[in-house]
Amino acid sequence: MKKPIEIYPAKIKDTIGIFLVQRTVWLATYPNKEFGVTRNWIKAHFSDKKKRVARWRKGVRESKDSCVWVAKEGKRVVGFCEALKMKKHRIGTIYILPKYQHRGIGQALMTQALNWFGKQRNIYVGVAPYNTKAINFYKKFGFKIKGPVETGQLPEIEMVRKARP
Ligand SMILES: CC(C)(COP(=O)(O)OP(=O)(O)OC[C@H]1O[C@@H](n2cnc3c(N)ncnc32)[C@H](O)[C@@H]1OP(=O)(O)O)[C@@H](O)C(=O)NCCC(=O)NCCS
Repeated sequence: MKKPIEIYPAKIKDTIGIFLVQRTVWLATYPNKEFGVTRNWIKAHFSDKKKRVARWRKGVRESKDSCVWVAKEGKRVVGFCEALKMKKHRIGTIYILPKYQHRGIGQALMTQALNWFGKQRNIYVGVAPYNTKAINFYKKFGFKIKGPVETGQLPEIEMVRKARP
């Protein structure tokens, strides 16, 4: 029998799981010949595990400006979402392990993040232009494509969900 999926604000003990989900999902989602994104480039990008986990340890500390939610099946992190109240309100990341996609976990995480932001300000998210699945996912929540942005990492377009004060 499938264990239930629980969603709650991430704790320090979840940070290695967050790192592993991010790496796995990048490898499953982002390799793209046209844009020159290779598996080797992604593996190299995630080779500094210690630094990345340390960055997540900072990210999950309670703060009024950021929140990370994890989706867990028992002790295993199977997805997560990071929301940031910076100059712009922004979805930092939302990643679900491939085997756990299409079960409503992304929607549940996104709903947490949108409720946390409130409706007063625009909310932005960056997405690879060839990541049609994610683009359609964001459109369902009212995001619209704004245009390309320069990140120096993956090719990216920005989407915005307008404030509804
Ligand atoms: C994009 C992403 C976050 C969406 O998360 P998800 O958990 O797969 O999304 P959901 O399950 O909530 O919704 C996706 C689809 O599953 C359907 N669904 C939801 N619950 C379902 C269920 N119990 N059974 C069957 N289908 C279901 C939804 O209706 C939706 O269908 P649609 O796209 O045809 O409308 C996830 O696919 C992902 O991590 N992708 C790779 C990484 C990525 O691209 N992240 C975004 C980076 S910008």
